[in-house]
Amino acid sequence: MRVVHTVDDLRSALPALPGRTLVPTMGNLHTGHLALVERARQTGGPVVASVFVNRLQFGPNEDFDRYPRTLQRDAEQLEGAGCDLLFAPDEAQMYPRPQTWRVLPDPALAGVLDGAARPGHFEGVATVVLKLFQLVQPACAVFGKKDYQQLLLVRDMVRQFALPIDIIGLDTVRDIDGLALSSRNAYLDPVQRAHAPQLQAALRRLADAASCCADPSLLAERERDEMQAMVAQGWVPDYLSVRRRADLQPPRAEDLGARGRLVVLGAARLGGTRLIDNVEC
Ligand code: PAJ
Repeated sequence: MRVVHTVDDLRSALPALPGRTLVPTMGNLHTGHLALVERARQTGGPVVASVFVNRLQFGPNEDFDRYPRTLQRDAEQLEGAGCDLLFAPDEAQMYPRPQTWRVLPDPALAGVLDGAARPGHFEGVATVVLKLFQLVQPACAVFGKKDYQQLLLVRDMVRQFALPIDIIGLDTVRDIDGLALSSRNAYLDPVQRAHAPQLQAALRRLADAASCCADPSLLAERERDEMQAMVAQGWVPDYLSVRRRADLQPPRAEDLGARGRLVVLGAARLGGTRLIDNVEC
């Protein structure tokens, strides 16, 4: 696997990699990221991964400074997973001047859930993803469903800007106890780690409720109950919410009951660590 750190070196490496698939990451890779690389390989084309901790998508009081940076280990793991090229730019390469031009995502999709809890986050994500797409010019790109709203936004951006990129979504890879793998799990102490699967358990209960409930207001009541139960377990939830998969809006009565249309999304803080997860139902 070749590793390039500059835009010039990236551009000279790309002609040898036609029909490539991009796997964008912020590094500190785990088995979930490597599953994306594995999925990218199944396209049959060469695989390009990027590792870049994107300042634009972090709020002023978020964990940009302490986000784990483990490039050497990431490179070894990517090589082992069969990645062909790693693009690992520093900030001066990605943002040689302050990135004053931004991608402003559709507020209907970016203003709810994580977008409401993290103002500006998806603008930062969309801006860096568009820039990575421009730099790497992939035929396909793979994103995890773990960041469900991000995947939807990227799909919508690609559609509206008519980018010739096929977006592939991959199911969330979980630990044995159900906790979604995340670089941020490293922040959890052993007691918090033992409690962390409670988030997914709450989402599953709401998914069960959604599959047998025909009344949106009753479902909203269940959401509030689950939020309260999480507070009682020591969490600070941002949201636990049943939404339509297509547009992340609350379901109407006709959306309930039909399988395959809904997703339950949640974000909650345990100590200083913010975890997100979702369950399709
Ligand atoms: P990062 O959090 O590093 O995630 C990179 C990719 O890995 C994303 O597509 C994410 O959804 C996926 N991923 C993370 N955990 C996963 C899991 N347990 N199972 C499956 N896929 C998982 O998401 C970002 O970086 C950034 O926002 C980025 C898109 C790179 C833009 O900066």
